[in-house]
Amino acid sequence: MAELGVNIDHVATLRQARRGNQPDPVLAALICESAGADSIVAHLREDRRHINENDVFLLKKTVRTKFNLEMSIAEEIIDIACCLQPDQVTLVPEKRQELTTEGGIDARKNFPRLKKTIAKLTKKNIAVSLFIDPDKKQLDAANDLGVKFIELHTGKFALAKNKKEQQKQFLILKNAAAYGLSNGLRIFAGHGLDYGNAQMIARIKGVEELNIGHSIVSRAVVVGLAQAVKEMKGLIG
Ligand code: PXP
Repeated sequence: MAELGVNIDHVATLRQARRGNQPDPVLAALICESAGADSIVAHLREDRRHINENDVFLLKKTVRTKFNLEMSIAEEIIDIACCLQPDQVTLVPEKRQELTTEGGIDARKNFPRLKKTIAKLTKKNIAVSLFIDPDKKQLDAANDLGVKFIELHTGKFALAKNKKEQQKQFLILKNAAAYGLSNGLRIFAGHGLDYGNAQMIARIKGVEELNIGHSIVSRAVVVGLAQAVKEMKGLIG
């Protein structure tokens, strides 16, 4: 059984379409928790395209399970995280032009900066997880950095065009999880997971938590639409 972290970024994406205050990601977090989510995830991006500072400070006050802040290693964001003190941060790479986080952070290439960042966050009692590709070199670098948690990027598995490719990516994830586990790492996974593929990853031995956002928010829009229309018809009809 894997735990579920719900990423609420795309509730804020919808809000930002009108730059107003609905739908409210903080209210969404409360609903997710009452429906059984084991943690709430939000990514404070450098360009603030969805979640903003106000959201993360309100989430810190409101979330009762675990608040996992996804973030880059930009100085400005690190300072906010140190002040916010979420239960956990997940360090991710970030590019302005990308639609979503495209790959894991290169833990070897960014080793010195990550070392400094991890020390700074750990000093503030924040648990640190690294979002990395399911690659032995990256797992070794995570170990060398002394983190206890890693999140395996499941994007290639999720985007596989056919069963053969999906199985190949599944085995890569399974082997990476086993390798991480044998080195004492605690394993999370996420990106691109949906109602058709999440179960496969949840069953990998050692995967403790899946972080899922887009598919859950998308499904909420679809399954909630009939109720929303009925309510408006009731008001004006
Ligand atoms: N985990 C990490 C580290 C992510 O960057 C994201 C995307 O913000 C997710 C999980 C969730 O991905 P998705 O929205 O595709 O479910």
